[in-house]
Amino acid sequence: MIRSVIAGCGSYLPERRVTNDELAEKVDTSDEWIVARTGIRERRIAADGEKTSDLALAASHEALRDAGAGPGDIDLIVLATATPNLTFPATAATVQADLGITRGAAFDIQAVCTGFIYALATADNFIKAGQSKAALVIGAETFSRILDWEDRGTCVLFGDGAGAVVLTASEGEGTNADRGILTSHLHADGRHHDLLYVDGGPSATQSTGHLRMSGREVFRHAVVNLSAVIDEALEATGLKAEDIDWIVPHQANKRILDGTARKTGIDPSKIIVTVERHGNTSAASVPLALTEAVRDGRIKPGDLVLFEAMGGGFTWGSAIARW
Ligand code: ACO
Repeated sequence: MIRSVIAGCGSYLPERRVTNDELAEKVDTSDEWIVARTGIRERRIAADGEKTSDLALAASHEALRDAGAGPGDIDLIVLATATPNLTFPATAATVQADLGITRGAAFDIQAVCTGFIYALATADNFIKAGQSKAALVIGAETFSRILDWEDRGTCVLFGDGAGAVVLTASEGEGTNADRGILTSHLHADGRHHDLLYVDGGPSATQSTGHLRMSGREVFRHAVVNLSAVIDEALEATGLKAEDIDWIVPHQANKRILDGTARKTGIDPSKIIVTVERHGNTSAASVPLALTEAVRDGRIKPGDLVLFEAMGGGFTWGSAIARW
């Protein structure tokens, strides 16, 4: 059967670091409060004029280099973002043009913090169906542009960044020994749309709006949904938690990561954690964390890697891949 092998990965973070102490000069908060509740110590913020597509382009160049591929090899771009450059065209189309690609499809996916898992699963299905041979899957965000910088309950949580992977079609045996994506699971439950949302948009308000969140409620749903979707991926493959070498989770909050690990019996030392330095970068957080763990040698060829995320919608999902 056809498998989507992750042939390379890359990431990009804006230069500007914003520490908790710097935020405490603007809103009534403290480094102690933010670290204790979230694990976040600093986040990166895009420069004036630096757009989501710019972050995505830098991550894509690195992913292509890492895969030993050129833009001409790519026949599909799926870009996950909740902070596109413009309402339309898709930021994926802008990245396509910036890469000099003129063939194949390019579109955005909007599943907020679950966006990268949705994009990965979508590209995997295009590849398995034979409609794509090499896909660029990107998560890129400039959440700093939709934050209410006077709301201490949300502005301390998020950051900007981008990550990307190149998926290539490869023949597999159809067993868990294959390299590539072994399983993916996507969910949504729109009944909870008002627990985490942006209060603006072209059709409703003709404006961009700001992020609004009921933190406690989101926290509660996150641990339940993430634990369930991890179990679902393990069940679908017949794998056990101890078979997984690395968990690359969406980086929302250290307490969500710890709570989910406890509930699923995952060894916390297998969890890749970047939230303390990146904050929550929404759709970018999984490929940012993945790239870091590949570059520093933790994730090695043959390793089993489990991805999971949950975000506004609500949406949530998981995937398992052999590196
Ligand atoms: N600094 C200091 N005090 C604060 C801050 C802040 N930055 N933010 C809120 N507070 C105060 C509140 O005003 C409140 O004060 P009060 O008791 O006087 O009213 C107090 O702290 C407690 O507020 P809660 O919102 O109940 O605090 P909680 O313990 O729930 O922590 C947090 C808030 C960190 C947002 C938590 O609910 C959380 O992590 N939720 C998950 C949200 C999340 O990660 N969302 C990301 C998107 S979804 C996803 O990616 C999975």
